[in-house]
Amino acid sequence: MRAVDMIRKKRIGEEMTDAEIRFLVDGVVKGTIPDYQAAAWAMAVCFTGMTARETASLTMAMAESGDLVDLSGIRGVKVDKHSTGGVGDKTTLILAPLVASCGVPIAKMSGRGLGHTGGTIDKLESIAGFRTELSREEFFSQVNEIGAAVIGQSGNIAPADKKLYALRDVTGTVDSIPLIASSVMSKKIAAGADAILLDVKFGSGAFMKTAEDAIALAEAMVAIGTEVGRNTIAAITDMDQPLGRNIGNALEVREAIDVLRGEGPSDLRELCLALGSHMLVLGGKSAGEADARAMLEQAIASGAALRKLAQLIAAQGGDPAVAEQPELLPRAAAQVRVVSSRDGYVHGIDAEEIGVAAMRLGAGRAAKEDKIDFAVGLELVAKRGDRVGQGDTLAILHARADDETAASAREQVLAAYAIESEPPEATPLIHAVVS
Ligand code: URA
Repeated sequence: MRAVDMIRKKRIGEEMTDAEIRFLVDGVVKGTIPDYQAAAWAMAVCFTGMTARETASLTMAMAESGDLVDLSGIRGVKVDKHSTGGVGDKTTLILAPLVASCGVPIAKMSGRGLGHTGGTIDKLESIAGFRTELSREEFFSQVNEIGAAVIGQSGNIAPADKKLYALRDVTGTVDSIPLIASSVMSKKIAAGADAILLDVKFGSGAFMKTAEDAIALAEAMVAIGTEVGRNTIAAITDMDQPLGRNIGNALEVREAIDVLRGEGPSDLRELCLALGSHMLVLGGKSAGEADARAMLEQAIASGAALRKLAQLIAAQGGDPAVAEQPELLPRAAAQVRVVSSRDGYVHGIDAEEIGVAAMRLGAGRAAKEDKIDFAVGLELVAKRGDRVGQGDTLAILHARADDETAASAREQVLAAYAIESEPPEATPLIHAVVS
């Protein structure tokens, strides 16, 4: 077999065989297929696409290129949740203890963030002492004992995807539904869950800019899950403005605690109840969404979900008092207001711009080796639909100092707000569900 023939085949839109896909993936991992051929192949796929069978083959070949985690040592149906990313998305911090408190085991491997704000692991590390590296034995026994553990991705998960994704990132070939679908699903399948809930975002802060594209991506991922025997559901959700109000690591932990206390912003709470309901159904704890939702609401109202968070923090070496006293979390030295320059209604908040402003304040990494400042970030006081007057506070920056960095972040946040004279049309947070 020759890589050049695979490139030609995809260029003219022909279907590759399973053996050809495995040859290509193997060559990418071993380095026997040079980067220029792998990139040319990815570009051809961007133009001509892949069939459902090819996409499933690519997914499995990439999943099997590294470790396949065996979670059978953990009792119960293991449900994984994956979000295609967005600004202010702290749902894992809420869903892990919430869903675990309803009896579905959560054995979660999460990532760090690059660009924008930190990933789930960075957010958890803003809790002093919290260990995100556990041995396999510690991980399994913690899930069996308390029902949940959240650790950093370790081992050699889907190395073929790692190489191909890095190459796609610099060759303008990320935007292909079969390539994104196989990339995400190869990692989920390798991570070993029995069932997968996908939160596919669309809007200014997401990979997919329109609901139609997000649905097409969700359908491709659900088809892969079905093909390889993992029960998969996808919710298509709005990321046209950041989720919740807080962006930044400790600030997001604080907001997650608010939701687990029965407070917090309504969009974040609503999304967590919707995603959590699907997780309880996938985990076999509830026959339908309405029952599942009632279980989740009860876990919040009784304090069980917040107690589960405290248990999770304690089990991983952090101070469980944080769950009751979020003021123990790191706090930035300066709070800087961003004020509205006009009267009107908030029509939109460009999530990507907000993410970049948070990163500039130090909440995220521009390069892999950058160090995150857990305390900094921003709080969105006004959100879409809110009426604001000139001089009203739109957002509060949590900065190291009221200096030039804060001043430029303030300009960027102000520019991210679209304020118009008339109220905006209401848009649903959850646009569709694909199963
Ligand atoms: N996220 C992934 O993991 N892979 C992609 O290709 C795009 C987003």
